[in-house]
Order: sequence, then C-alpha cells, then structure tokens
Amino acid sequence: MYNKKTVKDIDVAHKRVLLRVDFNVPLYEGMVTDDTRIREALPTIRYLIEHDARVIIASHLGRPAGGNQFESQFSLMPVAMRLIQLLGKPVTVIGGSRIAGEEAVSASLALKDGQVMMLENLRFDDGEKACDPRFVHRLASLCDIYVNDAFGAAHRAHASISGVPQIVPAVSGLLMAKEVQTLTGMLSDPKRPFVAILGGSKVSDKIGIIENLMNIADTILIGGAMCFTFLLAQGKSVGTSKVEKDMVDTAQRILDLAKEKGVDLRIPVDVVCANMFADAADKKTVTVDEIPDDMMGLDIGPETVKLYREAIMGAATVFWNGPMGVFEFPSFEAGTRGVAEAVADSPATSIIGGGDSGAAIKKFELENEVSFISTGGGASMRLLEGKPLPGLEALEDKDVYEE
Ligand code: 3PG
Repeated sequence: MYNKKTVKDIDVAHKRVLLRVDFNVPLYEGMVTDDTRIREALPTIRYLIEHDARVIIASHLGRPAGGNQFESQFSLMPVAMRLIQLLGKPVTVIGGSRIAGEEAVSASLALKDGQVMMLENLRFDDGEKACDPRFVHRLASLCDIYVNDAFGAAHRAHASISGVPQIVPAVSGLLMAKEVQTLTGMLSDPKRPFVAILGGSKVSDKIGIIENLMNIADTILIGGAMCFTFLLAQGKSVGTSKVEKDMVDTAQRILDLAKEKGVDLRIPVDVVCANMFADAADKKTVTVDEIPDDMMGLDIGPETVKLYREAIMGAATVFWNGPMGVFEFPSFEAGTRGVAEAVADSPATSIIGGGDSGAAIKKFELENEVSFISTGGGASMRLLEGKPLPGLEALEDKDVYEE
C-alpha cells in the first residue's frame, strides 16, 4: 500500500506548484538520446495542467563542477525542447545560473492556470546539493504546493528533494507513487517463486540488496564481474578478472547465509574470457574451473545462460538489476542478452531495477516485453536495500480515518 498523499489528494487549482522531476537524461550533441524519464513524468504534468495548476518544473542534470556557475553542457535547454515536443505546449525556461532568483519568482507569479515554466539545472546552485536553507527558501518562494515526481533522485537529501517539503505542503507525483508501489509491493508480497537476478561489477555495490533479498527471494542468480569475487570465495582461480579481494569474506558469508536460509543462490558455471578489456579481444569460453591465469572473464557463458533461463522461465516474479557482462561490447553481450530475453519471455511479472539493466533491456529492444522498468538506478537500489528514501520520507502521509 502507498501511504503518501499524491497530487490527486489535494486541490491544485490556481496554485503555483513546484514540480521536482528527474530529467537527468542522456544527451548527445545537444539532443536527448533517451527521453524515458521525460515521458514518465508526463502523466503528472498533464494532470496538473488539466486541473488548472500553474506549474514550475525543476530538475538536476548531470554533475556540474559547482561554483554557482552556468555550464552550457549541463543546461536543461535540450530537455525543455523535448518536453515541449512531447507536451505539445509552450514551456518558458528561466535561464542563467541564478536558480530561483527574482526573475523566476516574477515569472512564477505571472503564470496563468495551466501554464508551465521550467528552471535551469538546480545543481548550478551549490545550495542544491548542500541543502542550504537559503536556497531551500528561495525555491519555496516560487510555490504554494510542492510535488515530488523525481523517484530517480529520491535517495538524495538535496534542497529540492528533502528541504522544500519541510516548509511547503508536499505530496508525491504519479510516477513516484507508481515506482514506490511497484517496488515495495514486490518486496512485501511477491508472487512465488521469486527469482532475483543481480549483476554488475562490485559485490560492495550490491551487498545491501543481496542481504535484503536473501530474506525475500527464493532464488538469486549472480552475474557480472562480481561473480568473480564469489568464485574466489569458493577457492577458484579467476585469472586477471576484476575482483574485490576485501569482499571475499563477505561473499563467503553470503554463500553460507544462503545455505542457512534455504535460498537457491547460484553463481556462473562457465564464463567468456578475454586476453584484454576490449571488444576486439581474443576470447574463449571456459568452465569456472578452467579460467586461464592470463585471461579475464567479461561475460557469463552459454551454459550459465541456459541454467539461468530455466530458473527465470519457472518464476512468478522476476527482479533484475545489473548486467551479466560487458554488454557495451558486442563480443561480450551474449550473457546479458540471454538473460534479458529470458526475462522478456518469462510469464512472470518482471521488474527491472533501472540503471544499466534498464539500458540493456532497451539496447535489445525488449522494453515492451517486461512489466516494469524503474526510472531510478540508485533510488531503486536504496529501496531494495530496505533503506528509507529522503525524498519519500519528506512527503505528507495519507490521512488515516479510524472508525
Ligand atoms: C540518477 O540518474 O541516478 C539520478 O538522477 C541521480 O543522479 P545523481 O547520482 O547525480 O545524484
């Protein structure tokens, strides 16, 4: 159950609404190359427009160097252009590096019902990441109501995420509600068998999720470079593969814990090795007992894909976070592709944890074959670790009426 108020629980008509979105989207040569996050925010934007709100959109983009300066490569202008196309409505952008300054206040006061304006990149002001109270108050002076639809940034305790809602009535947007409902629903009441697929390069990045899912999932399939730390914990030689030596004990503890809890935790049985980290490397598929001393594993092997596919096809719920190999190199994408295809083919409810696995599903053009792709990488990881999201905590709870 989602216990936070949403835009639908309040009256937004004739009010200035500061709408925090996560428009941190990839750009190439001044063009948005993946507009998913913009599209996913449209239902909330349209809802506000249709209900006569005066909308002020705010987002961060990338990681500018700081120093209260405008940096053109981090300007939200290309994002605003895409938003205008998708929305089919004009959106006024307040430029420059002074975010939420006098110009923005005047523009917000001049907005008419159903009109939309947008601020420049919030991170052009150092007060955003520092959650500086002066910046919080400047942002708050733009609005009567605050709406957070930036699920992807909800794990950041920044001015526009956890500062403004302390001083302005604050509710969630429709995307925020959908994301949190889907992910927490999966954690609290998954249809079983529940198979979690975890990849990526570091055990240290995924340890929180693995530990939490150990209490929830029936099967955990491990892939990506982090499998080599597990293989090392099993006493195997991993050649020049990427490992975290200081996490070997942790990997061993996880393997023991899985046995104790009766979780079917699997690690690869074969891998694709390379003589160097390059798409054009010489490659060789070997069992995990035969990794040559001078080669590194860059993907899971075909036998592992087959075994993982069987588990995924038998699942009722599948969660996937993290690629199985270096899928950016076509020579080492087969493992990630195989798992992506299995997730797409499985009759299970399939939930993709955003970030790289979301990118992989899109690369293989399978995005319409899965149930849900989160727009949050770091935020969804944090939620799956069972940790609170500052951006969510800050929003008003739904009223509970007792009989
Ligand atoms: C993301 O892309 O994960 C979010 O927009 C957060 O971005 P950040 O990691 O730069 O805070």
